[in-house]
Amino acid sequence: MIFAEQAVEGQLLVDDDLVRDGASVDRFERYEVGHAERIAELADKLAIRFCIALRDRLMLKRAAYFHDFGEYSMNRAYISSPRELTEAERLDLYRHPVIGEQQASKREFPRAVQLLVRWHHEWWNGSGYPDKISGNGIPLGARILRACDTYSALTSDRPFRKAFSYEEADRYLLESAGIEFDPEVAAALLALPERIQANAVEGSREAEDTQ
Ligand SMILES: [Fe+2]
Repeated sequence: MIFAEQAVEGQLLVDDDLVRDGASVDRFERYEVGHAERIAELADKLAIRFCIALRDRLMLKRAAYFHDFGEYSMNRAYISSPRELTEAERLDLYRHPVIGEQQASKREFPRAVQLLVRWHHEWWNGSGYPDKISGNGIPLGARILRACDTYSALTSDRPFRKAFSYEEADRYLLESAGIEFDPEVAAALLALPERIQANAVEGSREAEDTQ
């Protein structure tokens, strides 16, 4: 597939099949609300704050919808399991960004989209995966995806835990700035009113994983 750039009244449009892919992954991962769509929206808001060019915003938005397609392709039962993963399963799951990149390549998505998918689990301090790149060596779009993916996941009910409150998610973002997240991206997300949805989750809950 070759993407055509589309911008209507400031809104970046993505192809319907990509939106369907994102929804399929969400169902597979047992998100009850649209995780991929939420990441795409938050990521684009941050992209605007960082004055990212229109074409790169489009790459980022497409990568947001496709970021976990590798998990869907792997089709492992443990991904939607309510229990904690074993070490072997966790290592297996670490393959999903590369598999996602390969799937994006098969579909002839632009290389920029492929690489954003590959690097959406890289950490600012270099302890992410698959390539353990760090700091500004990680493209800004991938740093934005990491923060938005984690924030959306934390504030969503998952098969293995209940959602964090927004207060707890904000604290996680703050405490993980400079570790998991680019500090400037974390600060920008914390300043973004749209990170809080109308049906905000209340209460204090524990979590062990941000997948
Ligand atoms: Fe992922």
